[in-house]
Amino acid sequence: MDLYQIKICDNMSCPDIIQGAEATISFSEFLGRKSLVKMRPAKTYRLPEIDIHIRNARTRNEARIMHDAREAGVRTPCIYDIDLKDSSITMEYVEGRSVKSVLDEEPGRADELCRKIGLAVAKLHSAGICHGDLTTSNMILEGDEICFIDFSMGCANAELEDIGVDLRLLERAFSSAHVGLEPSFEVLMDTYYANIQNAKQVKRKLTDIKNRARYT
Ligand SMILES: Nc1ncnc2c1ncn2[C@@H]1O[C@H](COP(=O)(O)OP(=O)(O)O)[C@@H](O)[C@H]1O
Ligand SMILES: [Mg+2]
Repeated sequence: MDLYQIKICDNMSCPDIIQGAEATISFSEFLGRKSLVKMRPAKTYRLPEIDIHIRNARTRNEARIMHDAREAGVRTPCIYDIDLKDSSITMEYVEGRSVKSVLDEEPGRADELCRKIGLAVAKLHSAGICHGDLTTSNMILEGDEICFIDFSMGCANAELEDIGVDLRLLERAFSSAHVGLEPSFEVLMDTYYANIQNAKQVKRKLTDIKNRARYT
């Protein structure tokens, strides 16, 4: 969803705030640690009692999936606090650059990074977790590890269809953001298939989804 992001405030007296389509990100400290608060502001076009229900369901879902992903061995920010009064999650601030900008600036690292992405997505899917918005802007390169963020569209107990859709979105996002890096995307998918149990079924599902899109 980073297409909608604008930096609102850029001076020293006030912290940077990033306004996304659904959430507002601000930076702070939590028990002395650099942290980030992701808050879902109220949508005035919704009935207030429905609005708070939707915002809190999404907040809980995001926190839960981040936690499940971490248990599956995928690096995600540590959650410090969840506040359902303002539908916010306070989490660890991950130092690093987005994988999107690393690939833009250092395309020579594409195979190395794509191998890591393929392995991490295989771990997520093997644990029944779909990310829901697999773009390279939702991955932060921290040292030489990739941290996955923004699980707001994610789901647990994923079915084959959800997994196929997750991969299709990744493919589309990658090909539009990283023109010229198609061979590295193949490296990503090869690593992915080598690390899941049901590669044949998933390949078939992905082909189905692409054909469906083509003929509808
Ligand atoms: N834990 C984090 N550490 C560092 N930066 C983060 C973290 N979470 C989010 N960000 C930054 O904030 C941006 C927006 O957060 P994200 O969760 O992706 O929300 P949105 O749904 O608006 O895309 C990210 O693209 C990233 O730059
Ligand atoms: Mg995002």
